[in-house]
Amino acid sequence: MAADRNSLIARALRGEQVERPPVWFMRQAGRYMAEYRAVREKVSFVDLCNSPDLCVEVTCQPVDRFGVDAAIIFSDILPVLQAIGRDFHLVKGKGPVVPDPVRTTSDVASLRRPDVADALPVVPKAIKLFREVRPDTPILGFAGAPFTLFCYLVEGGSSKNWEYPKRMLYEAPDQARHILNLLADVVGDYLQAQIDAGAVAVQIFDTWAGTLSQEDFKAFALPATQRALARVKGAPRIFFSKDMAPYLHLVKQTGADAFGIDWRTDMRIARKALGDAPVQGNLDPLALYAPTDQIRARVRATIEAAGPRGHVFNLGHGVLPTTPLAGVDAMIDEVKKYRYPAP
Ligand code: CP3
Repeated sequence: MAADRNSLIARALRGEQVERPPVWFMRQAGRYMAEYRAVREKVSFVDLCNSPDLCVEVTCQPVDRFGVDAAIIFSDILPVLQAIGRDFHLVKGKGPVVPDPVRTTSDVASLRRPDVADALPVVPKAIKLFREVRPDTPILGFAGAPFTLFCYLVEGGSSKNWEYPKRMLYEAPDQARHILNLLADVVGDYLQAQIDAGAVAVQIFDTWAGTLSQEDFKAFALPATQRALARVKGAPRIFFSKDMAPYLHLVKQTGADAFGIDWRTDMRIARKALGDAPVQGNLDPLALYAPTDQIRARVRATIEAAGPRGHVFNLGHGVLPTTPLAGVDAMIDEVKKYRYPAP
């Protein structure tokens, strides 16, 4: 399909010379859009994630409203936990909740290694449907990285200190590794199923790896992400994490092809650490509340800091639910107007 190999995002992710960076942004389908809130009035978040038709409907919303250069299939990282045997739901004001967290040896024994085609059919199906209804827009797949999924699975929800998952690393490291390996294999197969369904690239979100010391990052999060990504072939694999500045010299070891950078790291510093690898990011999502001329200036500064090749424009993390649409419009318009200087 025309949407894919020759699309702006595919070319930028191969580090080719393009006329401007492509733009999409994390959580681009979500609560800041009235169209999304209208769907959520009718269905719960988990039911939304379980319906390929509704996932496609909300995936299309930012594509149609803003003309982003790529879509990310709507879902969440947590359906993978359902596939290994733990339900989740969203509680307003509290975020995701896993009512039956995994803490003891017998909890761990109750986890299963599913066949991904049977246990996680919704997203690959939604990717295929999206390609039928919006053939000109490349679609990204994604999954949570093993360590970030481990955090929700063991904690039972969001947390500031991640006490239970981090305690398991110290108190029962072999048990932690067993869970991380299980998650890595499922996540790897899940990302591959999304590529096989037609994703132009996949992103692995290791949002909470940045809570670890260097030593523990190397001992737990990094090998688990490596193990997941080693199972994935046929399209670029983007690694994203928050608070990655202290680990920039290590992230290439994940084996990913491109790297999402949060807003606290200057793109020039990311470039120095990552060499030729394509980068993605990294406007502070809160900057979208600034007056539009300031947003435009920050967009240009971000593009210039990233340099003229191998850059996918994005926010440094997900867009927030109260974000003004005018800020998003200004960001997209400015990226689309930008032209790299002639080489
Ligand atoms: O980026 C996209 O547009 C694709 C869809 C997507 C969602 N979540 C939709 C969503 C993706 C890629 C995610 C990933 C995700 N989910 C991560 C990793 C990336 C990150 O943002 O750090 C994490 C840690 C989760 C777990 C999760 N799910 C959280 C922390 C929340 C927010 C809870 C809250 O109340 O703010 C969710 C729910 C969620 N996932 C929403 C959306 C649009 C809000 C759902 C709603 O209330 O309707």
